[in-house]
Amino acid sequence: MPGFELWGAEERKEVNDVLETGILMRYGFDGPRRGVWKSKELEKAICETFGTKHAQLTSSGTSALTTAMASLGIGAGDEVIMPSFTFVASFEAVLSVGATPVLVDIDESLTLDPEAVRTAITHKTKCIMPVHMCGSMADLDALQTICNEHDLILLEDACQSIGATYKGKHVGTIGDAGTFSFDFVKTITCGEGGVVLTNDASVYSKCDQYQDHGHDHMGADRGADLHPYLGYNYRISELHAAVGLAQIRKLKKFLEIQKKNHEALKNILAQVPEISFRTIPDPAGDSCTFISWFLPTEEITRSVINEMKTQNILAGNFYWYDNNWHYIRKWDHLKASTSLHAFAPELKRGLIENVNKDFTPSDAIMSRCISTSISLLWTEQQIQEKGEKIVSAIKKIVTATPQSLKVKV
Ligand SMILES: Cc1ncc(COP(=O)(O)O)c(C=O)c1O
Repeated sequence: MPGFELWGAEERKEVNDVLETGILMRYGFDGPRRGVWKSKELEKAICETFGTKHAQLTSSGTSALTTAMASLGIGAGDEVIMPSFTFVASFEAVLSVGATPVLVDIDESLTLDPEAVRTAITHKTKCIMPVHMCGSMADLDALQTICNEHDLILLEDACQSIGATYKGKHVGTIGDAGTFSFDFVKTITCGEGGVVLTNDASVYSKCDQYQDHGHDHMGADRGADLHPYLGYNYRISELHAAVGLAQIRKLKKFLEIQKKNHEALKNILAQVPEISFRTIPDPAGDSCTFISWFLPTEEITRSVINEMKTQNILAGNFYWYDNNWHYIRKWDHLKASTSLHAFAPELKRGLIENVNKDFTPSDAIMSRCISTSISLLWTEQQIQEKGEKIVSAIKKIVTATPQSLKVKV
């Protein structure tokens, strides 16, 4: 997800505006900052670009999720249903507000399986948190229906899918709140940063206060601000916001290139009969940061990964099933509830029970999945060569695999 690949004079100019004032903080110093308000400008640009009423920048996507959860009133005793495939930040944020992450299976969209969500609902469920993984999106209609039926909050972790849309609306703007990450490897980057998107003025006002120690931001004197409730420091800096401002102006171009390169590579991979592709609930809305594809069995997938490694063509291709950070199988610290500080006994019990479950349906999908990241810098010739090399590695393995072992799981 490579916003950083097209970095240049535009980002330097925005950062320089801030450096020239010397005011690196987003609040206060009204005189010395001489009208430079990069964080405010970026929030306005986010609202206009993605079609949301409110945007609250934060220091990261993780702190955006925490801020959103706190502002939506999620806390101790609440359960948040989330997928088995995501980045660790999703459950970290749930734990940070004292709620219990309830992990459930994904389907071939690589996002929450709505049926698995239904089965996981208890009297403690407060929120459903789909994670729009790898540039695409969850089945938001199905999840919204479940939320409506059970009076639950829908919080979209859209950190990996900036620019993706679902039925004409940007992901992250459809639920009660949504989040993006602007870390270094996201579609657009601030270096580090994040944002909460919401159409609810009351949720926004809480986000605004929570991410700045609870400041009510009612006057010009920070020392005289009231603190209606506890908050933390999850503020973004003006330097980071300045980078994001230059990047958001390039988003349209990034998405166009991603879509073009994605289509060219997919056309080559689609020639292999053994490959199938992830389900995309709204194909027109895919932001195309990755192509995620499946092979018939785990054994074939592992052999293809090994062959790609041997041929030195694995870079940019991800086998999440073995990755320590993205899939439940390798989250030993979560399964053992290994934390530097004590958890409330009820949380610890709930956590251990909910993450040490059987995830066979997710395993059957993730063990056969490879995601290929799309670069903004590829030439047509490079895409052709890359595609042909991947196809030839797959064909070599498939040809060497006895027919009886080619059966889909
Ligand atoms: C799905 C998902 N959620 C949350 C985050 C957290 O974002 P950040 O790295 O900005 O804290 C990430 C980052 O990779 C992510 O992929």
